[in-house]
Amino acid sequence: MKMDEGKLQAFMGKLVVDMGGAAILANVVLGEELGLYRAMADGTPVTPDELAGRTGCNARLVREWLNGQAASGYVEHGSGRFRLPEEQAMALADEDSPVYVAGGAMVLSSMYLDKDKIVAAMRGDGGLSWADHHPCLFSGTERFFRPGYRAHLVAEWLPALEGVVPMLDRGGKVADIGCGHGASSIVMAKAFPSSTFHGFDFHQPSIEQAHQRAQEAGVGGNVFFERATASDFPGDDYDLVCFFDCLHDMGDPVGAARRAHAALKTGGTVLLVEPYANDELDDNLTPVGRLFYAASTCVCTPNSLSQEVGLALGAQAGERRLREVFHQAGFHHFRRATETPFNLVLEARK
Ligand SMILES: C[S@@+](CC[C@H](N)C(=O)[O-])C[C@H]1O[C@@H](n2cnc3c(N)ncnc32)[C@H](O)[C@@H]1O
Repeated sequence: MKMDEGKLQAFMGKLVVDMGGAAILANVVLGEELGLYRAMADGTPVTPDELAGRTGCNARLVREWLNGQAASGYVEHGSGRFRLPEEQAMALADEDSPVYVAGGAMVLSSMYLDKDKIVAAMRGDGGLSWADHHPCLFSGTERFFRPGYRAHLVAEWLPALEGVVPMLDRGGKVADIGCGHGASSIVMAKAFPSSTFHGFDFHQPSIEQAHQRAQEAGVGGNVFFERATASDFPGDDYDLVCFFDCLHDMGDPVGAARRAHAALKTGGTVLLVEPYANDELDDNLTPVGRLFYAASTCVCTPNSLSQEVGLALGAQAGERRLREVFHQAGFHHFRRATETPFNLVLEARK
């Protein structure tokens, strides 16, 4: 076979872009942790020395960091000054913006920090528990997903479910399974003060963070967090059981859906939010699919394989496979309620 020089050059170009992206993400984490983006969020042009002064950082390293940000198109540069445009500030500096993504860089860092554990899982039985990852995965996940919950959950996702918003307005009982640091429960508890929200997660440190977040948000009265697995969470007569970006992480998603079925009132609803995916691999070979498959290799699928059953759905399971899971668990009504470029929002009814 004859090597095609043009194809080689094109592929090398692609790899340079990808490696630059991976390297600059480490710098995004620095900018986020050191407050460099926040210190530029007002959009006024700064010199490296001024930014170093504002953030208490080393001026020479700040200059190098800014040069890399300029080369990436994250900041603009002219006459020795650097400016963070408003659009970039929304994505990198403002945690309240719906497009804030800097938390995602922390999730990706955990994949590098946990490299040795992931190598061992890949050489072994495939299992690596969520709990055994670097803690930046837990806070990174919260900060990556929370902007989406704030932007979409109350405004779009809950209204896309049949009869759920009137029920929550009247006062209903909701379980949020695999709730992590509780971002989704807290968003809903604020919007629906007459309802009660019960967040469950098998990871005790996440439950402790969720308690703290609820206190900070001032929603202590109608939101409760407790350690429990998806297959044994307590309570019954729920009106709504939610799974936010966690069902595919679980070893036994059928068991989790079965427990949700048992815990729901007749006529109750499951809200299943999963990473956006199509049913066939060929249709997932997209920038979003690439991101999710890579994270799923290092985090989601190993966690599932570390648990009982180990079904290993993966983060790109797609609607058809998820429907099968819910049918097996006894749900007959299952439909796509809505979607975003990053999420499938699915409804199952008892
Ligand atoms: C990707 S995180 C999503 C967290 C949260 N729902 C959010 O959207 O921010 C997946 C969560 O599922 C939890 N989890 C995984 N397996 C579980 C199980 N079998 N039972 C309960 N929680 C589980 C993990 O501890 C983790 O908090």
